[in-house]
Amino acid sequence: MEKRLAFAMCGSFCTFEKVLEQAEKLVAGGIRLLPIMSTAAAETDTRFGTAASFRMRLSRLTDAAIITTVAGAEPLGPQNMAQALLIAPCTGNTLGKLANGITDTPVTMAAKSMLRTEKPVILAVSTNDGLAGSFQNIGRLMNVKNIYFVPFGQDDPLHKPTSLQADFTLLESTVESARNGRQLQPVMLT
Ligand SMILES: Cc1cc2nc3c(=O)[nH]c(=O)nc-3n(C[C@H](O)[C@H](O)[C@H](O)COP(=O)(O)O)c2cc1C
Repeated sequence: MEKRLAFAMCGSFCTFEKVLEQAEKLVAGGIRLLPIMSTAAAETDTRFGTAASFRMRLSRLTDAAIITTVAGAEPLGPQNMAQALLIAPCTGNTLGKLANGITDTPVTMAAKSMLRTEKPVILAVSTNDGLAGSFQNIGRLMNVKNIYFVPFGQDDPLHKPTSLQADFTLLESTVESARNGRQLQPVMLT
């Protein structure tokens, strides 16, 4: 069976290069990616690059039109468009929304759509407040059925003591594990 993975990017712009590099490996490994971007990710120009350039790269890489609306993400689960959803990078903002049942972006809609059909949703966090404001949301989501985390750790404890970032090289192994109903361990990296 063809592996189809919904692949959603949120607005942690500093990780886009790293994440796209890993996404290329997923595609090279034969996984078909269905691209989704949050509104922030799809529309914000930053010092890390223009929104248009990242949209073009993601679209070319996946050979597909990017889902950038709530309406576009809604059929994902029920229409069986993908077997799992990977949110990489996942911002503190999106963690907060997911933990509180808020569905007002293409990415949170995609998660809701997958969860209602009991498909796995895998989060690759990247947020400066991971051990601060977002910590409670991570804790709550850890306890939610069908949600899994790409193993994460403190990316710069000395200079950014509350920052957490997933190990993006573990995207594929975390997704594989999640598809078998298991959280890849250890989930907390030192
Ligand atoms: C240059 C820049 C870098 C950012 N990096 C991050 C980040 O690494 N992690 C994060 O949680 N938010 C980051 N943000 C803030 C998010 O982009 C912002 O909260 C946005 O509303 C997220 O929306 P989304 O979760 O729908 O993508 C950054 C914003 C800017 C402008």
